[in-house]
Amino acid sequence: MSRIAYVNGRYVPHRDAVVHIEDRGYQFADGVYEVCEVARGNIVDMTRHLDRLGRSLGELSIAWPMTRGAMEHVLAEVVRRNRVRNGLVYLQVTRGVAPRDHFFPAKPVRPAMVVTSKRSDPVALNARAEKGIEVITVPENRWDRVDIKTVGLLPNVLAKQKAREAGAAEAWFVDPDGTVKEGGSTNAWIVTRDGVLVTRPAEHGILRGITRTTLFEVARKLGLRIEERGFTVDEAKSAREAFITAATVVVMPVVKIDGSAIANGHPGSIALSLRAAFFDVAEKRPA
Ligand code: PDD
Repeated sequence: MSRIAYVNGRYVPHRDAVVHIEDRGYQFADGVYEVCEVARGNIVDMTRHLDRLGRSLGELSIAWPMTRGAMEHVLAEVVRRNRVRNGLVYLQVTRGVAPRDHFFPAKPVRPAMVVTSKRSDPVALNARAEKGIEVITVPENRWDRVDIKTVGLLPNVLAKQKAREAGAAEAWFVDPDGTVKEGGSTNAWIVTRDGVLVTRPAEHGILRGITRTTLFEVARKLGLRIEERGFTVDEAKSAREAFITAATVVVMPVVKIDGSAIANGHPGSIALSLRAAFFDVAEKRPA
């Protein structure tokens, strides 16, 4: 079956899905995006993702390209047309197409919108979670508005590529004082010896992950305590568990940081139980 993408008002074959060379997303990374998990035919936490999209658009003074209701319809339609039961749906909105000029277009243009969806293999992802992943650490080198989910991801791309070349799956950005910020495309967590979940505050310096937000509810359901505070690489290395969260991986145990094993080097039971309970707690919208 051939894949379908939504591009500026049309559902087109994925291989023919193109945007104009003067799309400001292409030229200036002047746009924002969201990635939602699709699980068992449902779009997961769509409300929170669209709330965050609205915030990102507002911070950059980009208008909604359509009503929120229409956007929900397009997301579901792209998932349906691609017959995705498990996977992801990707949504990108840029300031639009205009002759290249750093200033916002003097005459407002219509924001450009693209939606794609792809399948993932839940069995393979679970197998990965049973094994855990390795992370490396890299110095924080991003701008200070990473709370906005923009498509300007070059530092993230370079950090993640560095991780891959080191045999790891994720790179954690670290401040000069040794505090862990977040991963290239995930939020970072540890579990203390006493079984308390620790993740850094999301007021600034990281993206407020939707998976992270929903995990607060999952933790409550499992009777687990969360402390929102910074933690260092050293604390993470001697933690009971570590894990990452994002729509793409839900909860993924971390078993090594910069080559040093966490606890016994196997995924922690708390991370795995959070992973197992996530779907029941998250919002599910049938596509
Ligand atoms: N990334 N931090 C960063 C820098 C991210 O890019 C992401 C998501 C997260 C986790 O956010 P959420 O739980 O809402 O997925 C944290 C997406 C999945 C991506 O770029 O593919």
